[in-house]
Amino acid sequence: MELSRNVVVVGGCGHVGLPLAIMLADRGLKVVSYDLNSSVVALVNSGTMPFDEPGAPEVLGRVLANGNFEASHDPNSISQAETVVVVIGTPVDEHLNPDADAVPRAVAGFQEHLRDGQLLVLRSTVYPGVTRLVERLIDQSGRRIDVAFCPERIAEGKAVEELISLPQIISARTQRGVERAEKLFDVLAAQTIVVTPEEAELAKLFTNTWRYIKFAAANQFYTIANDFGLDFERIRHAITKDYPRAMDMPGAGFAAGPCLFKDTMQLAAFNNNNFTLGHASMMINEGLPLYVVAKMENRFDLEASTIGILGMAFKGESDDIRSSLAFKLRRILAFKAKAVLCSDPYVTNDDRLIAEAEVLSKSDVIVIAAPHKRYASVPIEKPIIDIWNIRGQGVLI
Ligand SMILES: NC(=O)c1ccc[n+]([C@@H]2O[C@H](COP(=O)([O-])OP(=O)(O)OC[C@H]3O[C@@H](n4cnc5c(N)ncnc54)[C@H](O)[C@@H]3O)[C@@H](O)[C@H]2O)c1
Repeated sequence: MELSRNVVVVGGCGHVGLPLAIMLADRGLKVVSYDLNSSVVALVNSGTMPFDEPGAPEVLGRVLANGNFEASHDPNSISQAETVVVVIGTPVDEHLNPDADAVPRAVAGFQEHLRDGQLLVLRSTVYPGVTRLVERLIDQSGRRIDVAFCPERIAEGKAVEELISLPQIISARTQRGVERAEKLFDVLAAQTIVVTPEEAELAKLFTNTWRYIKFAAANQFYTIANDFGLDFERIRHAITKDYPRAMDMPGAGFAAGPCLFKDTMQLAAFNNNNFTLGHASMMINEGLPLYVVAKMENRFDLEASTIGILGMAFKGESDDIRSSLAFKLRRILAFKAKAVLCSDPYVTNDDRLIAEAEVLSKSDVIVIAAPHKRYASVPIEKPIIDIWNIRGQGVLI
């Protein structure tokens, strides 16, 4: 086959597709990011990252300049690469149902551009069984294509370092598929771990759900301590200090974002909705903004108060507001308080946000809703609600 590229990444201008594409290109492969979103494609080709990802702007600049990388919204680019990596979004719907057809639908959509001899790597987090569905789709098309499932495990904000340091989970039905996928990821990381596709699908969902459950445990401990009038951070310090078996206990905080919650719900759906621990975690984590406001109501006359929210992203030092609980907090407070003012130095796609100085000067009470490091030291003269303990003054409300 005459191919001008090594890899095409479908969904290649997204939060995980783009870092993967440019890191592969930085390691010497010829890579195309194929994406439906033509304005983001143009932005990427102009050398601008469409979202914050530390270290990525430099890599993007390098691989555009040396010709190893380009973004495209032409599906013909899929025919030009030996390997096709699919990393489109796989959200749950408003009723928390996974869309098991999202990846098969996308593959069916570009199927006419696939060629015999290609390697198709599914990289999105999928509902278990999706790899099998895609294999059938490919079989039915009559094309001779190896299918692999190799889930992405980076955290946003750490993509550049983690893509070359985390072990890669590799799975495929055939030995040749495994070997080809290993060869691809060998370019990035020394260590690969081979399992079956079904094991890999569950490995990814268990990974995210495990983290979500740990956050829920910490958040429930926080509410228990808080209701008892005790500062959970003092207790957590006592538990974790030089005590290896509990050192990984997280602090309280809004556990949100585009992955942990939806993957816990994917796992619940997969297990016929029998997932007590997952559902309980969802109620605790999603309920935390309501808990915080209920506690604030005991302390402040909310109807007469302007509340300032600092930090709207779902995590620290990020501009990503997808599924951020800061917005749920804002909605609840908008209902209860005299006014709510919000700011975030990273978030640029919400024109309701105002300057931090204005929030600080006009508000009666400040809530820190994302743990951006700058909030540790920004001078604040008002009462502060800081469940992340970013200012080190405790978390008691
Ligand atoms: N965001 C994370 O930190 C993270 C980490 C690990 C795994 N994941 C998983 O990776 C997948 C992608 O997540 P994301 O956060 O990058 O999503 P995203 O929405 O940021 O990116 C998806 C991209 O795919 C494009 N797209 C959608 N359908 C397409 C199609 N048919 N053809 C071409 N392009 C298409 C979109 O325009 C978008 O640019 C999800 O399954 C997610 O669960 C995400």
